[in-house]
Amino acid sequence: MRAKGAEMPGKDCVKVAVRVRPFNKRERDAGGRCIISMASSTITIQDPRNSQSPRSFCFDYAYWSHSGFTRDCSGLYIPEEPGGRYADQGSVFQDLGEGILENALQGYNATLLAYGQTGSGKSYSMVGYGPNKGLVPTLSDKLFQAIRANQDSRQCQVFFSMLEIYNEQVVDLLSRGSRSPGGLRVREEQQRGFYVEGLRRVPCDSAPQVEQLMEQGTRMRTTATTHMNANSSRSHMLIILQLKQIFSEESITKQSNINLVDLAGSERQRVSGSEADRLKEGTAINLSLTTLGNVISALADVAVGKKVVHIPYRDSVLTKLLQSALGGNSRTVMIAALSPADICYEESISTLRYAERAKRIQNRAVVNESPTERLVKELKAENARLLQRLSRLGQEGRRAEDETSRRWKEGGQRMKPWTLWEQHLQEALKDWEQQYATITQERRMMQMHPYILNINEDTQLSGVVKLFIQEGEWDIGLSDSSPRSISIRGLGIQDHHAVFINVQRRVYLTPLAGSNVIVNGTPISQKTELQHLDRLILGSNSTYLFIGYPSERGGDDWSRYDYDYFQSELAAAEGINLHSLCDSSAVPSQTDPSLLAVFYDYIKLMPMVAEANQMSQELHKGVEFKLEIKNLALSDSKGHDLEKEIAVRVTSLENKQVWLWSKAKFVNRKFLMEELYQQHHTERKGEGAARAPMPRDRDPFWDPLEPLLLGSAHLWLQSLAFRIALEEQLEVLGSEGTEEAILQAQLIPCSPTGLTLGEDDILIDPSELLGRRLDFQLVLDQCCGLRWVQQARNRGVQIGFRMFDSAQPLYTPAVWHNVNPLLDQRVHFTSLHTSQGLLEHLQTSALVLELWGLQEGCRDMVSSLEGVRMTPEGCFIIDQAGATETATTVDPGSELSCSLRALQQDVEELRNTNAALKTENNTLRDQLNTTKTGAEWGRGRSEMRGSSLRPSCDAEFARALKVFYHSMTSVRVQLQRLRRHRPSEESDLLGLRLFVDEQGGLLRDFSELLEQSVSSLKQDVAAIVRRKRERSGIWS
Ligand SMILES: Nc1ncnc2c1ncn2[C@@H]1O[C@H](COP(=O)(O)OP(=O)(O)O)[C@@H](O)[C@H]1O
Ligand SMILES: [Mg+2]
Repeated sequence: MRAKGAEMPGKDCVKVAVRVRPFNKRERDAGGRCIISMASSTITIQDPRNSQSPRSFCFDYAYWSHSGFTRDCSGLYIPEEPGGRYADQGSVFQDLGEGILENALQGYNATLLAYGQTGSGKSYSMVGYGPNKGLVPTLSDKLFQAIRANQDSRQCQVFFSMLEIYNEQVVDLLSRGSRSPGGLRVREEQQRGFYVEGLRRVPCDSAPQVEQLMEQGTRMRTTATTHMNANSSRSHMLIILQLKQIFSEESITKQSNINLVDLAGSERQRVSGSEADRLKEGTAINLSLTTLGNVISALADVAVGKKVVHIPYRDSVLTKLLQSALGGNSRTVMIAALSPADICYEESISTLRYAERAKRIQNRAVVNESPTERLVKELKAENARLLQRLSRLGQEGRRAEDETSRRWKEGGQRMKPWTLWEQHLQEALKDWEQQYATITQERRMMQMHPYILNINEDTQLSGVVKLFIQEGEWDIGLSDSSPRSISIRGLGIQDHHAVFINVQRRVYLTPLAGSNVIVNGTPISQKTELQHLDRLILGSNSTYLFIGYPSERGGDDWSRYDYDYFQSELAAAEGINLHSLCDSSAVPSQTDPSLLAVFYDYIKLMPMVAEANQMSQELHKGVEFKLEIKNLALSDSKGHDLEKEIAVRVTSLENKQVWLWSKAKFVNRKFLMEELYQQHHTERKGEGAARAPMPRDRDPFWDPLEPLLLGSAHLWLQSLAFRIALEEQLEVLGSEGTEEAILQAQLIPCSPTGLTLGEDDILIDPSELLGRRLDFQLVLDQCCGLRWVQQARNRGVQIGFRMFDSAQPLYTPAVWHNVNPLLDQRVHFTSLHTSQGLLEHLQTSALVLELWGLQEGCRDMVSSLEGVRMTPEGCFIIDQAGATETATTVDPGSELSCSLRALQQDVEELRNTNAALKTENNTLRDQLNTTKTGAEWGRGRSEMRGSSLRPSCDAEFARALKVFYHSMTSVRVQLQRLRRHRPSEESDLLGLRLFVDEQGGLLRDFSELLEQSVSSLKQDVAAIVRRKRERSGIWS
């Protein structure tokens, strides 16, 4: 066995900690279950769908921050009881932060990475929220304490930098100038390794100064996010603390870099192979994160002795900057943040696997110390660089140059590096004072005026921007031309977007022509008075919370008005909420997790769709996006109403062409659209000539046309089990419940040569089919009232279906330009040896007939005959796996299965009656035989009678059954109608009452239909029995 990395001399393994946070609102709403448990440093995760196989992982530290805590009066989360298992921010710092501090003071480089899906608590651990300070502020606090405690033995310099990597661009979060297009450059130097050229390094000498810089950086991050129309969860935030310690006595300088990295959300869009996007996944979405994963994997392989040729540090900006942290000169800690909830299982297990790989990485950290002379040399070089830069500046620069060079000459070689540091520090402090004054001023304003507060998808960035609405009239929009304008940026914000009026301590908002303003979920078009805590959405998706005058504020908790709240409110106004997605009977706490996922997908995609529409408009792409909730039950042969999925319908405004994108595809495309949009803006701003228009095949807004699934109809197969013909007018329903067309279809039992069977061939007991040949034809006569073609005449349709175990779907030929096209299709199916599987399928399932929409320029769907077996006469052979029986099961809970069960019971009863009749018949026959003389004569007669009586009796039964199944079809239609019947979202009490009345009516109809069917069946059976008895009576 290999020695453990940690024990190898000179090697340090990356230390890994995991932390699990409390449930968030979504998870609580979902009645989430905690699937994570911890015992010392071992963490166990349970697959919610498989109780058998919990997985355990062992890390250096495991923090339980899920439960057992309370909030003290200052807002700090602390263990419920002293010594409780809850890991608060303090204890996390003790283990991880102290070590990093210790290392830094010794002169080692140190790195702390936070990894995990969005919302798992990375920023909580790194930066913290309010009084619950994270590792970075506490580390800086302790660092300056240590510096003070050691000031006799050494002089220390601390530099602070903060940057963001978004889409492989480096943004300096402390930069005061305008952002350079394309971001800052990452360069490489032999000595230094990779570094960001021109990154601002701010000298600091106190913890409050660092905190204020972090605040400044976060503010910059927030505005950059809106300006670039970017999503912060995709960006990496890096804080670099540089510590220089000069030990004058020993003439030694130690230098260490502390990298503190809040990584982008680790979640990935899972695009399954079949729906992979034509355009490659937005390659840069997570290029840095993907590369980080590759680097970690490669290093983990190295650690276990595998041969690794290449470690791809150079493939991304992030890994370049973290090269020393990974497999290099750094002591590195990774904190893996986890959600406790069952719905996050996939992401959590992937985080744990990632963390497990990371813990194998071995670094070789060394103390970075050098004789002070070298530092002096370095500082001189830096000075020269500075002077050069200064000389480039104008008059002022020249004066400063004179001043500096004068001092430099005066001091000559004797000038201490310290002087320069102090000089920088003084400048930074001046800056800080200014910022401090601004912040104090802002606090004062908050106590005097109403204001709007930004709400961001990322809680860390919420509440950062405050825009005050003082007395009078204020223009809000892109423009900042007048002193009475409040300037905001964001997608869909107009130059002059809306007007705030603050008179007599009341605040009003009036949208200006053509601008989008939504208050509490509803678009407004007129002057509207705002109330404290109203929610505003300006443009596509700039979300703000309105805070009224201090007198209105009270002690209310604003935190519940988070981003989710805004989006749910908007969705509710569109008629989408959890209740509307579930069966009305479901209690929220029992909501199917998959439906919750759909709901949250919906509210997550909603703002993205708004943004995509805005970009399409501004870039003149001529397409419109709309969210759809697809009901997958439509393609379920049992008609279960369980699964739903979000899709995005894309419509070309010009020619009404339509595409349907999966969620994953849309998310991918949205990223590419953003890139295109940013490029467009950079080019517009720049003087240079605009680029040639994008070729269509690379355009994220465009796709080749494809046939579109419009909806489907269910043709129940039950009658075939009795060899009864069926003719139906089927409603083809779209995924949102719209009637797309009426389809006339028939199922006709027939002979092998295709002759229609008669009533005498009707079976009472379907099991008689077992092992025998069954032939039937599916006839698709006509489609009527095609909505798809009504909308645009240049369209066509095809019907697709897959019978039982057919390998491939079959499609009818395309019919074009006709709202009521004749299909006239007849397909003959044969089961050579009917299996139990087919029989059960016939009795419980439907043939799903899919209606496909064709558009001019798209190819037809073609039936592939690969793997299809046919008889010499051209019949499609189904039920090929007669030997390998696969039993189909019905969800025992569904309503449909209840009616099916009832049906089956009825059939069972009929079978019993039949059996009883047969026995009775036999007895009667026996009686007859004994009363008549002449055994020969008697036998002959009774056989004759038997054969003449049974078929006629069976035929009567069969007819009764046929009537019964027909009536059951109406019952089923009524049941589906009932299921689709939902109250409208805007319903007031009156509306609800109306709905209840309607629902009552529908229910009454349903139960009447059901009762009628059953009672007529009973009557028919009773009549048959009676007739039979009468007949027997005559003969007896
Ligand atoms: N350990 C914790 N204790 C309490 N709340 C937490 C904890 N970790 C995260 N949260 C909360 O969860 C939400 C998301 O956390 P955040 O750190 O912003 O996630 P991330 O940065 O991973 O996207 C925040 O509202 C935060 O307050
Ligand atoms: Mg975060």
